[in-house]
Amino acid sequence: MKALVTGGAGFIGSHLVDRLVNQGIEVVVVDDLSMGNIKNIKNRNLVTIYVEDVCNEQFMQRLLKQEKFDYIYFLAAVASVADSIDRPSETHEINHNAVLQTLEFIRVSKLKIKQFLFTSSAAVYGNLPDLPKKETSCVDPISPYAIDKYATERYVLAYDALYNIPTVCVRFFNVYGPGQNPTSPYSGVLSILTDCLKNNKLFTLFGDGLQTRDFIYVEDVIQALWLITESDAHRQVFNVANGREITLNDIIQTYEKIAGHKLSICKETGRDGEVKRSLANIDKLTSLGYSAKWSLKKGLSEYWKGV
Ligand code: NAD
Ligand code: UD1
Repeated sequence: MKALVTGGAGFIGSHLVDRLVNQGIEVVVVDDLSMGNIKNIKNRNLVTIYVEDVCNEQFMQRLLKQEKFDYIYFLAAVASVADSIDRPSETHEINHNAVLQTLEFIRVSKLKIKQFLFTSSAAVYGNLPDLPKKETSCVDPISPYAIDKYATERYVLAYDALYNIPTVCVRFFNVYGPGQNPTSPYSGVLSILTDCLKNNKLFTLFGDGLQTRDFIYVEDVIQALWLITESDAHRQVFNVANGREITLNDIIQTYEKIAGHKLSICKETGRDGEVKRSLANIDKLTSLGYSAKWSLKKGLSEYWKGV
């Protein structure tokens, strides 16, 4: 079995690569290292890694034709809502067009794949008041990032329905854990919090801290992805989350206790295009045999131990 992981040197991608290698799958990574780092991949000596842009159509087509992948996990993306608001057109090329180009090449070249998995986001649900979000809940994407993720989902599912390419979409909620790059102002909040607590840096809190997120530890995400691959699911969307809602203020307090000291905080107005509350219904994932192994306290403690 052979798998392509785009964004495989990134936070979630590198954990996935390690799992796939442990499952005995031959893995190829394409990552431009804009946020990723080859050192994130533990088994990197067993993996073929191309430092390339997924928007490079010629390169991607050559690779797809040559390698004939069984599985494609499309994780490469600019993962930040705020960054997509600052660079809507550039991020659209990666977050939408690159995925569509890849699927289109699979279609015209009649490549046989077992599963094409696209990593979408909870951001597609937006700010509609109903909670928790089910896969069938109405969506209301309010940032270029969320719009790209939702539009891409629709294409991904249509390539299954219209052209029989087995595809699946996962809507990750907020993922945290080792390997998330904290160095950009657009980085995930828990990587920034960890960096600030560790190095006594000032943390900027956007808004009142009452915004909520459903945080899931990266190991549980990998459990979910592998279950979805094993299930041969296709033409489906899955929420991938913990199923618990917590405010940013509460997570800061919990993390301060684990770290054993207070965080220095400065407050700024809330960011545009943000979701206020986020919580998943994970019944569909659970029906595949998923059960979270990492509570927030356990996940944060493990993360903290490793930094
Ligand atoms: P990440 O930034 O760590 O990983 C993305 C990887 O893609 C990085 O290694 C980056 O270098 C690479 N990349 C970016 N642009 C590229 C390009 N043009 N060509 C090749 N590689 C490129 O982010 P992550 O948190 O691991 O996210 C992985 C996927 O999951 C993304 O699609 C993201 O939108 C999605 N997602 C993440 C979360 C989360 O909470 N982290 C939640 C929902 C969805
Ligand atoms: C995150 C992911 C996104 C994913 C979405 C799914 C990243 C960078 N973003 O977006 O890929 O699709 O979850 O729900 O991984 N905040 C601060 N200070 C900071 C940074 C953030 O207060 O320094 C706040 C933000 O304003 C926001 C919350 O923390 O209210 C979470 O922010 P962030 O980690 O960027 O996540 P999302 O925008 O939820």
